[in-house]
Amino acid sequence: MNRALGVCYYPEHWPEEMWARDAAEMVEAGISWVRIGEFAWSRIEPEPGDFRFDWLDRAIAVLSGAGLKIILGTPTCTPPRWMLERFPDMLAVDAQGHVRGFGSRRHYCFSHAGYRAASGKIAEVLGDRYGRDARIHAWQIDNEYGCHDTILSYSEAARDAFRAWLVQRYQSIDALNDAWGNVFWSMEYRSFDKIGLPNLTVTQPNPSHELAFRRFSSDQVVAYHEVQVAALRARTEAPLIHNYMGRVLEFDHFDVGASIDIASWDSYPIGFLSDRLEGSAEHKARYLQQGDPDMQAFHHDLYRAVGKDGRWWVMEQQPGPVNWAPHNPAPLPGMVRLWSWEAFAHGAEVVSYFRWRQAPFAQEQMHAGLKRPDNAPAPGLEEAAQVGREIADMPQIALQQAPVALVFDYPSEWAWATLPQGDGFSYFRLMLDAYRALRRCGFSIDIVPSNTTDLSAYALVLAPGLAAMPEALQQALGQTVALVGPRSNAVTDELRIPTPMGPDLPGLDVTAARVESLPPHVQRPVLGGGAVQHWIEDLDGSADTLIEAETGQAVLKGDGPMHYLGAWPDAELWERIVHGLAKEAGLAAQNLPEGLRLRDTRTHRFAFNYGPEPVDFQGKTIMPADVAWWGI
Ligand code: GAL
Repeated sequence: MNRALGVCYYPEHWPEEMWARDAAEMVEAGISWVRIGEFAWSRIEPEPGDFRFDWLDRAIAVLSGAGLKIILGTPTCTPPRWMLERFPDMLAVDAQGHVRGFGSRRHYCFSHAGYRAASGKIAEVLGDRYGRDARIHAWQIDNEYGCHDTILSYSEAARDAFRAWLVQRYQSIDALNDAWGNVFWSMEYRSFDKIGLPNLTVTQPNPSHELAFRRFSSDQVVAYHEVQVAALRARTEAPLIHNYMGRVLEFDHFDVGASIDIASWDSYPIGFLSDRLEGSAEHKARYLQQGDPDMQAFHHDLYRAVGKDGRWWVMEQQPGPVNWAPHNPAPLPGMVRLWSWEAFAHGAEVVSYFRWRQAPFAQEQMHAGLKRPDNAPAPGLEEAAQVGREIADMPQIALQQAPVALVFDYPSEWAWATLPQGDGFSYFRLMLDAYRALRRCGFSIDIVPSNTTDLSAYALVLAPGLAAMPEALQQALGQTVALVGPRSNAVTDELRIPTPMGPDLPGLDVTAARVESLPPHVQRPVLGGGAVQHWIEDLDGSADTLIEAETGQAVLKGDGPMHYLGAWPDAELWERIVHGLAKEAGLAAQNLPEGLRLRDTRTHRFAFNYGPEPVDFQGKTIMPADVAWWGI
């Protein structure tokens, strides 16, 4: 599949006279895909059952006539106002018990049976009309499940569905009481229909209850999604796609991805740095106009794993300042091109910009597009066009097996969000720190799911924070040099402490005997350099102590190729650890210049300079916000 550019377009936002010129200019800019329709329900079906396809037919004709391939979205993330008259109880409810009202988007509860059926119905109607239309080359289902914090809903529909889910999982109320330890604080239930949702309790609800609710909520997304998948599969051969978001972790993307063909995600590097990443003020100032150097690549690698046969796209690429983060600086000149090339180097088939032209109205009127609201070109357009010219010279990018794998597991995020034991203990953050350390040492990385059974192709595998480790993964880790911990295999599936206590892994005589969480300003120095932050464990067992804190606590233990990390390292300590492991694994770790990141494909090495100053690397000077590549 050739690499290609795309764009998100809203014909319903613009006078019809503009469409043909827009389409021609897209093609001129090297764009070949256009996504439409995902928010257009109120124009497709203005009154229940009154379908208006005339405008959509004409938009499809114009866009396709210009040579563009169309991705058609199902509009289910924006149910129109009349839907509420039909289903007044379809609205999601937040953890404080507030109903999430109409007037923006994503206001539905995944558990509402009536709305779920209505979503399936509109997918059927669209599938009937356009499923065999050769101008529609792909379908996007819904838009960004989970955006705006919309997975966990505490509605009556969710409560009823949760009870039914619990009956399936536990079969008897005694089994549930036992699994959750409800004897504690007299929380025992006598029947499933007495179980509520884990919100509005006086203090923390039972963590097993909360984890069950999180698992249930993820399963509800999957069930909701599969209704539309079934509707479309019966009506089209075109690939089905969903566009995931950055650091949205409340549902298992591997489960959603299993029934569709391509994973895609929406990459807003500068918005993410401001809105959803930890980091010092210095780090945030340094990367203010570039985005965090690892956040995008992390998601590229994650969604490559989520996509069937590794197929993935960037469905929405930030083109200029966004509107939704606390502060919204402009990208440094060159960054739109850098982000695009980084995605291609990680295997994206398509990079599609959001959006063609900035809307002069409504919530996103301050969000840049490739064109300004007055239709003049915005700075992102020329960068996109440059990428378009460049990929014409390198249409194929062959990926290769990375030397290092990182195991990623959504239920571990839910486990530690439920039982953090210290403010700021986030599984995602721990994973991004590990990923960052590997990248600073120059490695290309594959992210793999926790149901992986074969890791023998990797020289080195990291699985930090993996709360409850499947048996097969435990065996697979034995095939390679591996690092687990902190908090790996520390709890059961029900979020209880097991006996023997964790990690209890084959070939690793280590027990995490006691744990401590540390406030943000505290660091425990480590002998030989670096420090521990956030978290440290007391480790028992006969495995060798390889790194020790000044307190005498073992930080890294090793038993042959298996290693256990009993703490959360700072950046310096992470890099020491990665260098040591790489050596054991026969890999050459580097120390890259600040802000530089590499990605190796089968034929090329790509180097991305996220930093604000030029760097010298392997005989080349790479300017800020620039990307270089050469053959390997
Ligand atoms: C995405 C969303 C788009 C648009 C964009 C703005 O989260 O899918 O519809 O809102 O953000 O950055």
